Amino acid sequence: MSGRGAARVLVTGAAGMLGSELCLRAPHGYEAVGTDLAAGALVRLAGLDLCDEAALERVFVEHGPFVGVLHCAAYTAVDKAESESALARRVNVDATRALARGCARHGAWLVAVSTDFVFDGAASVPYTERDAPAPLSVYGATKLDGERAALEENPGRTAIVRTQWLYGPRGKHFPRTIHALAREQGRLRVVNDQYGSPTTTLELAPALWDVLALRASGVFHAACEGSCSWHEFAVAIVCATGLAHVSVEPCRTQEFPRPARRPAYSVLDSARLAALRGRPLAPWREALASYLRAEPLA
Ligand SMILES: NC(=O)c1ccc[n+]([C@@H]2O[C@H](COP(=O)([O-])OP(=O)(O)OC[C@H]3O[C@@H](n4cnc5c(N)ncnc54)[C@H](OP(=O)(O)O)[C@@H]3O)[C@@H](O)[C@H]2O)c1
Repeated sequence: MSGRGAARVLVTGAAGMLGSELCLRAPHGYEAVGTDLAAGALVRLAGLDLCDEAALERVFVEHGPFVGVLHCAAYTAVDKAESESALARRVNVDATRALARGCARHGAWLVAVSTDFVFDGAASVPYTERDAPAPLSVYGATKLDGERAALEENPGRTAIVRTQWLYGPRGKHFPRTIHALAREQGRLRVVNDQYGSPTTTLELAPALWDVLALRASGVFHAACEGSCSWHEFAVAIVCATGLAHVSVEPCRTQEFPRPARRPAYSVLDSARLAALRGRPLAPWREALASYLRAEPLA
């Protein structure tokens, strides 16, 4: 919905995988105002660097009032963050703090998206919002500090929503990569010792709008139901895309050394969000099937 009478919501990261879906799914009565560094079909205000607090303030004044902000913009290059920690911190912590300050000044609710990478992955049962974070990577540490900054600057009017293993209609992600590699190579090796819950933006975006519409505050976990390893996820992807003949072999994380350490087990318990909305996100296999029906991988 747009135009007179609609409640405006600023969506940061509108050129990105999640922000773009949020812009498309504004519920009745809400109008999404998408912003990002780059231009994009769903970006109304391009060229806004959230690290520029004065420019951000102008957006609140000139394009508001906003009843809320759905904050998806982030430094998301997990491995590169290990060598670009200052930039990752500026975006994930300082810009998030500036945004939360803007929300506090202008009376806007803040829903800030965070990650399972705030946990160290040493658990063997799903993480609840009460579990203590202990990030293993620069990315995880900056996202955690961003959460804390948001809660501190806009107290009582901020929800942190941690999600994981995202994929959706736009952007680069695991199902697209696996599908392309399977078609090219006919044989794949995928790690079988990291567990999480694949989550589509198609499932997550409506949940984020609900968190805002219900004016929920505090920390929430938001992932599709059930869990698997990357290897199981890859097998499901090749089977669902007509490539079941491709051999997907399991391997260990240590065979693919990467700059950033990942949690071995970061399954999120999303019961608190399910109680808030009256329903959980779909089970991950169903969500994958729905996604592939809506957006077949080319
Ligand atoms: N993808 C996942 O699997 C996953 C898992 C858990 C949590 N999350 C969280 O979910 C949220 C959305 O993730 P996503 O995958 O949709 O990310 P994404 O596709 O990388 O989108 C993030 C957007 O933020 C923009 N951005 C970066 N720095 C900015 C700045 N200084 N000012 C304004 N915009 C800036 C990026 O622009 P450029 O591309 O031009 O830099 C990009 O368009 C993030 O908070 C992320 O941490 C993602």
